[in-house]
Amino acid sequence: MADLAVKKPLKILFVTAELAPLVSTGGLADVAGALSKNLKQRGHDVRIAMPAYGQIPREHWGKERFPCIADLGCKTVYGAMRESRLPGSDAPLYLIEHKDYFERNYLYGDNVHEYVDNAERFCFFCLATLNGMEQSNWIPDIVHCHDWHASAIPSYLRTRYARHPDWKNVPTHFTIHNLAFQGRYKPDKFACTGFDQELFGPESFEHYGDMNLMKACIAFSTKLNTVSPRYAREIQTPEYGVALDSMLRTRKEDLTGILNGVDYSVWNPARDPHIAATYSHEELAGKAPCKAALQAEFGLPQKPDVPLIGLVSRLTWQKGFDLVAQAIPELAKLPAQFVILGTGHPEIEQRLLALAATYPDKLQVQFAFDVPKSHRLQAGCDFFLMPSRYEPCGLTQMYALAYGSVPIVRRTGGLADSVRDISTRTLANGTATGISYVPVTAAAIIKSVKEAIDLYANPECYRGVQQTGMRQDFSWDRAGDLYLEQYQAAMEAMS
Ligand code: ADP
Ligand code: GLC
Repeated sequence: MADLAVKKPLKILFVTAELAPLVSTGGLADVAGALSKNLKQRGHDVRIAMPAYGQIPREHWGKERFPCIADLGCKTVYGAMRESRLPGSDAPLYLIEHKDYFERNYLYGDNVHEYVDNAERFCFFCLATLNGMEQSNWIPDIVHCHDWHASAIPSYLRTRYARHPDWKNVPTHFTIHNLAFQGRYKPDKFACTGFDQELFGPESFEHYGDMNLMKACIAFSTKLNTVSPRYAREIQTPEYGVALDSMLRTRKEDLTGILNGVDYSVWNPARDPHIAATYSHEELAGKAPCKAALQAEFGLPQKPDVPLIGLVSRLTWQKGFDLVAQAIPELAKLPAQFVILGTGHPEIEQRLLALAATYPDKLQVQFAFDVPKSHRLQAGCDFFLMPSRYEPCGLTQMYALAYGSVPIVRRTGGLADSVRDISTRTLANGTATGISYVPVTAAAIIKSVKEAIDLYANPECYRGVQQTGMRQDFSWDRAGDLYLEQYQAAMEAMS
């Protein structure tokens, strides 16, 4: 970190649809908040643009700076750009304001249907951001765009801004946090993106007859990454490529995998204001009161010696919650308790609710997006289960490691890159940090939970795995270094 801090400070613009701690539906927010803060602490001029959602508390809206404008082709849309600050940092935060687009009940839609005008909303966001930067006379050295919502920017810069005096040489870096969300819509939506109709071809926006904003971005970004080395390889295969694998292979020289980090100023059981008692890998005594408090909070019988297995997640197919529901009748026969905190698909919620009613001493569920509660869950359980079908990185298993909740994960994407499976060898050399398995089945979940119960029955062995996990270092300095290298490479490629 120190040597990078002395190099020339870069002007870095983050463009993101979510930002912790202001507005979040998942890991994108954590990453945008923590990585920007880390790069700012190193002395770079990091600024962030995001939509001014109604969900952002008003005290964070800052003062109105100036109107901004976006020509979407089908219409010209007027908005405003406000300047605020990223909480916990002095990084400027630009909020792109438009009441109709961004002051709605949800960020993207409810858990079943997304808003029909999402392409238009986020193209407006991207164009208004570029317009706002021009007006504030701050043109970055690199624009770092996150996920499909910001994916129009690299395409604008290399097409309609290709001769623009400010923007023509500005490189872009695009991070794929989740390839499943691509900004893929019916072709009639293309008319309201502000791109020239001529660009609607298979080398960029056209994708099996639809328009696809992320596909074009993959073509136009200077550099690309996803959030773990393993997922970067996986998405270049048909199995994980969500129909973009061949497009991604064309950019394989520019596509890297950078594992996300953990913001240990937020996720640290030794200094966590949300939990019943603090603890560390050297002094674990505080974990028992956290477990008792969690059992009480979820209404489970107080059983200090029964392993408590927690899940915090979006309740979706990606995260394997249909398989969890399928496994529960068998899991309920085992000497273990389960707590689930999440929000997601109504059908999955209904199934879990019914199962909790059938096995109330074994399973309790709460449907809320509640950050302090998620800290209490991480602190209070003995194991953390993450049976994802695919997982670009996953942050919660890394939080679980820090909180001494041994992860049980499917060996895919970032889960495979961050959890070291228990084996005779890893137990003997003291490197095991969790339990992992491969098949996408309820039976595999049940088998792994049984392994967890066996591990827990051997306190010395369990303690060793738990403490090794707590000592892992996933701090953002490592990922920050790698992003800075990528920015540098992108700047060289454009010079
Ligand atoms: P994803 O981004 O795919 O949802 P990650 O593991 O990368 O998965 O990040 C999820 C983030 O959202 C974590 O910070 C996690 O603690 C948080 N989270 C998920 N569900 C909830 C919830 N119901 N309440 C509070 N935080 C949640
Ligand atoms: C996505 C992924 C998750 C990743 C997060 C942050 O939402 O599903 O695996 O950790 O983005 O990069």
